[in-house]
Amino acid sequence: MSLKFDIQPAANPTSEKERAAKLVDLGFGRVFTDHMAVVRYSQAEGWHGARVEARANFALDPAGAVLHYAQEIFEGLKAYKRDDGGVNLFRPDANAKRFHDSAERMAMAPIPDDVFIEAVEQIVRIDRAWIPGGEGSLYLRPFMIASEVFLGVKPSAEYIFAVIASPVGSYFKGGPAPVSIWVSENYTRAAIGGTGAVKCGGNYAASLRAQAEAIQHGCDQVVFLDAIERRFVEELGGMNVFFVFDDGSLSTPPLGTILPGITRDSIIALARDAGKTVREEPYSIDQWRADAASGRLKEAFACGTAAVISPIGKVRSASGDFVISGGEAGPVAMGLRKQLVDIQYGRTNDPHNWIRKVL
Ligand code: PLP
Ligand code: COI
Repeated sequence: MSLKFDIQPAANPTSEKERAAKLVDLGFGRVFTDHMAVVRYSQAEGWHGARVEARANFALDPAGAVLHYAQEIFEGLKAYKRDDGGVNLFRPDANAKRFHDSAERMAMAPIPDDVFIEAVEQIVRIDRAWIPGGEGSLYLRPFMIASEVFLGVKPSAEYIFAVIASPVGSYFKGGPAPVSIWVSENYTRAAIGGTGAVKCGGNYAASLRAQAEAIQHGCDQVVFLDAIERRFVEELGGMNVFFVFDDGSLSTPPLGTILPGITRDSIIALARDAGKTVREEPYSIDQWRADAASGRLKEAFACGTAAVISPIGKVRSASGDFVISGGEAGPVAMGLRKQLVDIQYGRTNDPHNWIRKVL
């Protein structure tokens, strides 16, 4: 299915001067572009009313279903400016597929993949002036909310899908400098049969208390353990995790209750391309601590669209702290980071056809 987008450029877009001032010291997710894409769904009309328009508030009835039962899903992907001035998206088809899976899990109407991708591309095109140069990028946030006006607990009959965009720098203040993580022993993120494998807002709401605990303990991010045995490492609040061993192999927690990260999948492919063994297997916090002490574990790193690849330098928990690779960024994490970023910015060849040139 394809939909024609009605394009209504903003009447008062940000001036070049104002934009230049906003594109300084970006951080993550505080600056937004001038436009948004919106597509609506109703059971009677299906997906309709595709528009690109000035970014503005939504009018939402106070009985709108999302406000009560949290039927909401989202995605995150980035547009990268190439040296030739063109613009790349990285694996938008994978985000479209995951959005579809999220919609099905949350009993929402899936939006066709091509409409999802078209909406993302429309925003990249109309707001291309907002894409920062250098190591910055334009973070795209497609999302969908349940908008039916009804207080009964059932899947909404109406949805609003939208894409907004935010020019971003580094997710962590220190850039790719090693991050510290806090092991949550009080809270879990996901159980088998739950929603851990999809990108619904509720997962993040449920993680905030644990993330606040991490900050209180001076850490950048929380890491969750499995909900049954409370010992296997699952993932961070917004990133997957990898371990690098002294025999050159890597491991990462298996899919199931974690988010199937597109960065995770890309790293597995790149490491295997380089002849490395990558295991998707459970790894316990006790083993992690023991391997860090014995030197069997050489590196650990977090990965995700927002964070790219961030080495983990220090792990803290109620039962004590330990340091990985002397708290320094390791060569495997930094090598994979460079390789991935070079593909994303179109500086090297793209053996898996991950890049979609928008401009
Ligand atoms: N895990 C969680 C909980 C996330 O929020 C994210 C970020 O999207 C990831 C993992 C990494 O996924 P991706 O690499 O697709 O961005
Ligand atoms: C991403 O990496 O895209 C994320 O969604 C992580 C976080 C900003 C929620």
